[in-house]
Amino acid sequence: MKLHHVIEAQQFDLATLSRLFEVTQRMEQVVAQGGVGDFQNRVMAALFYEPSTRTRFSFEAAMQRLGGRVISTENASEFSSVAKGETLEDTIRIMNGYADVIVLRHHEMGAARRAAAVSRVPIINAGDGPGQHPTQALLDLYTIRKEIGAIDGLKIAMVGDLAQGRTVRSLAYLLSRYQGVKMYFVAPPLLRMKDDILNHLRERGVEFVEEPTMEAVLPEADVVYQTRIQRERFGDRLADYEKCRGIYVLTQESLRRMRSGAIIMHPLPRLDEISMEVDADPRAAYFRQAQNGLYVRMALLTLLLDGTTHPRQY
Ligand code: CP
Repeated sequence: MKLHHVIEAQQFDLATLSRLFEVTQRMEQVVAQGGVGDFQNRVMAALFYEPSTRTRFSFEAAMQRLGGRVISTENASEFSSVAKGETLEDTIRIMNGYADVIVLRHHEMGAARRAAAVSRVPIINAGDGPGQHPTQALLDLYTIRKEIGAIDGLKIAMVGDLAQGRTVRSLAYLLSRYQGVKMYFVAPPLLRMKDDILNHLRERGVEFVEEPTMEAVLPEADVVYQTRIQRERFGDRLADYEKCRGIYVLTQESLRRMRSGAIIMHPLPRLDEISMEVDADPRAAYFRQAQNGLYVRMALLTLLLDGTTHPRQY
C-alpha cells in the first residue's frame, strides 16, 4: 500500500520504518551537501492551531531543504478564517486547492483523522491534542537506533505525563513492533499511561511495568525518555497540576544511577524536569534528537510526495 496520510504510529510496520530510516540517513548527507531541488514545484502547508517550535520549523526547514515551498500559519485559530467560525473540514478542503501536503497540529484528539477524511492531499498529524504525535515518535525511534544501534531487547523508561503525552503514546506503539522490548512507565497515579496503550501492549505480548518512582528504574534503562508535565492539558484542574509538577527531575545524581551507555531523551520543550547541569553529559541526547527531526521529516516528505513506500493507507 502507498503512504498517504500519516495519522497514527500504528500505520508504520517494520518494513516501512526500515525504508524511512534508510532515506533519513540519505537526508543527513543531503543536508550536509546543502540540500536538493527535488520538490521545486511542490508546496507544503503548515497549519498549526497549537504552539510549536521544533515540529513546525523542522517541517518547514525540511521542505525548503528539499527545494519545495511553504505556506504557513502558526496560530490558525486566530490568523485564519477559523476565527470567523470556519470548520476544520472546510479549511482543509480549501487548503487542498493550494498545497500538495498539509502538516496539521490541532488541540483536539482525532482532528488529523477528521482532516484526512476530507483531504485529497496527504495530511501529516503534527500532534492532535493528547492523541498522537507520530512524526515525533519516528524521530525518537531513529534517534535510539542511531545512538544505541538497535531497538530489539531495549529497556526504555518513559517518565512524566504519560496520560496526556502524545509523544509517549505514539512511541509505545512503534516500540511494540520490536522483539524483546521492555517498557517502564513512571508516572504519578493521575498521569498513568492509558489503558488503550496498555491493552495494545498486552495483546502484542510486550513486557511493561508501571512504577510510581524513577530512582529504581534508572539503573535498568537503556533509554530514559523524560517528558514535561503539561500545564496546558490540565485546563482548570490546577490543583491536579500542582500535585504532579516537579515530581520527576533528572539531575547529576540521576546520571550517577544510570548506565554508562544509556541515553536521556525528551521531546522538548523542557521546563525543570531535566536540570541544565545534565546537558553537558554525553548521554543527554535530546538536542541531537531534535536535530534528527529535520532528517526524518525530509525523508517522510520525500516518501509522501514520491509515493514510493507501502504502509497501511487511510
Ligand atoms: N516535540 C515537539 O513537538 O515540540 P514542539 O511543540 O516545539 O513542536
